[in-house]
Amino acid sequence: MTTNPAANPPVIDAASVDAAITTRMSARAFLPTPVPRTTLEHILQVASRAPSGTNTQPWKVYVLQGRSRDALVDKCCSAHDALRADPSLAEQYREEYDYYPEKWVSPYIDRRRENGWSLYGLLGITKGDKDKMHQQHQRNFRFFDAPVGLMFTLDRVMGRGSLVDYGMFLQNIMVAARGHGLHTCPQAAWNGFARIILPHIAAGEDEMLVCGMALGYADPADPVNGFHTPREPVASFTHWLE
Ligand SMILES: Cc1cc2nc3c(=O)[nH]c(=O)nc-3n(C[C@H](O)[C@H](O)[C@H](O)COP(=O)(O)O)c2cc1C
Repeated sequence: MTTNPAANPPVIDAASVDAAITTRMSARAFLPTPVPRTTLEHILQVASRAPSGTNTQPWKVYVLQGRSRDALVDKCCSAHDALRADPSLAEQYREEYDYYPEKWVSPYIDRRRENGWSLYGLLGITKGDKDKMHQQHQRNFRFFDAPVGLMFTLDRVMGRGSLVDYGMFLQNIMVAARGHGLHTCPQAAWNGFARIILPHIAAGEDEMLVCGMALGYADPADPVNGFHTPREPVASFTHWLE
């Protein structure tokens, strides 16, 4: 007999739930320590409890480790270098959906700038240091040295709402990973290279790339992981109506 899930008591250890959420951060340096497949499967199974409109569960996950990971890293790092040498190649590398706005406005552009310059400042990268910026950006295409790379696709027939569902699934993965001492970095940086990635992972014709994600044990000694991003206070984004 299955128990009624609605009859379950509230999660007693609320502090652990909060800690899993608040200790999640985008790690950008990982140790080479492998992650057992059973752990990855468990995280994905837990994450799949994410809600989705009419339970459509629109997510599809590709787990890259070892050779498949390394080969993709090589292909995309080469493409990234080639793009720098010949910016006209950008035509070939269009993202399939607009993750960011075409025209940035305040306050988002201010937060974006603050985020970028705080990170570069921490790494000692100054404005105009194009080589270092390129190298740092390319760390994305090495999954920041994480041993596990995840790629997420969505069937193109689905609507924009499926991206809302997807966000919940992605966040579940990142939060569940914390329960195993793991860290993550969600990565839209890969999206421009969909035409390299989709054939590499043998995705179907109907699949579009949503984003990638690095997953592994964060390197606590690397200063980049000391980057703590600010948040607006609750009062600044909440309207209480009577
Ligand atoms: C969907 C998504 C895509 C992202 N893409 C990238 C990326 O390509 N590279 C990167 O370094 N960070 C990426 N980030 C991380 C954000 O920069 C980060 O979440 C934000 O600055 C807040 O910091 P925190 O995650 O450490 O709390 C992405 C985040 C999300 C949610």
